[in-house]
Amino acid sequence: MTGIEAFVGELNILGRSFEERIGQVASLDDLESFKVEFLGRKGKLAAILDTLTALPPADRGTAGKNANYWKNFFSEAIDARRTALNRAEANAELSRFDPSLPGRRPYPGSLHPVTLVTQEICEVFTGLGFEVVSGPEVENDWYNFEALNIPPEHPARDMQDTLYVSESIVLRTHTSPLQVRSMMSGKPPLAVIAPGKVYRRDSDLTHTPMFHQIEGLLVDHQVSMAELRGTLTSFVQQLFGASVKVRFRPSFFPFTEPSAEVDISCVLCGGTGAIAGAPCRVCKTTGWVEILGCGMVDPNVFKAVGYDPDVYTGFAFGLGVERVAMLKYGIGDLRMFFENDVRFLEQFS
Ligand code: PHE
Repeated sequence: MTGIEAFVGELNILGRSFEERIGQVASLDDLESFKVEFLGRKGKLAAILDTLTALPPADRGTAGKNANYWKNFFSEAIDARRTALNRAEANAELSRFDPSLPGRRPYPGSLHPVTLVTQEICEVFTGLGFEVVSGPEVENDWYNFEALNIPPEHPARDMQDTLYVSESIVLRTHTSPLQVRSMMSGKPPLAVIAPGKVYRRDSDLTHTPMFHQIEGLLVDHQVSMAELRGTLTSFVQQLFGASVKVRFRPSFFPFTEPSAEVDISCVLCGGTGAIAGAPCRVCKTTGWVEILGCGMVDPNVFKAVGYDPDVYTGFAFGLGVERVAMLKYGIGDLRMFFENDVRFLEQFS
């Protein structure tokens, strides 16, 4: 055998052993060492190629072509094997799943009790002829305090109670700025209801830094306290039932005069102060629970918005939505509203 024949013969033997073995390589790891064995810098093909320089120069071209043929053959076969092994691995993984299992059902949501109560209250008042309005949560000092007859030294303005964005901009501490905004953007007769978020620097078992209020305002000629009383009584009885009793207690707000707080007979114990002989925890045995603040619009507020207090009168009220929801649904803990636990929320669907 001449040098070139022996060289090509060695290549063919190597090729055959490659073909015999590649089909048995069973893992990607094994395939990598198999590749090193045949194509590596110190591999079997390289060992044969090392003998190329011993050949007569005239034969080296043929020898090189043969070697190249096998080199390409090896790398293509190894790539094909790698693809096949990858696919087999993916299939094995898929077979661990049961594709015939039914999918997960989408979880139906429900409206938050705060949303539900807000909607219900707005419906009662739109039924009475009120219009629903809204305004900014980041509010000017003037709308939140000044125009509402709350002077600069008033304790409500204290950093302890109010979240300030800057010296003259606050997160509104109540929805009452909507009284001012509605009067300035409209003209009497006005009857508006304004639900929204309010913010206070307060956080304990019965207070959260953000909660919801609904503001009401009615302005016209000769609006009386009797109308305020009639409107709120009708509202409370539509919300809690016709048998609920209403009580007005004198109170104070800078933006209303006279002012009152409204109590209703306790919805839990029916106003008796006790449930099955045990003291009622909601009304603390008094039989009454407070649900809103109200009053006749203070003349100073009319002046601030450019209304003549000798021509117009009006009433305003504000209530806390979480508080009403707690009474309406018998929820004992304010924190429930903010935890968004589905076990709580799904009870309202
Ligand atoms: N703004 C008052 C509060 O947040 C409630 C209120 C509104 C009282 C309108 C009277 C009239 O406590």
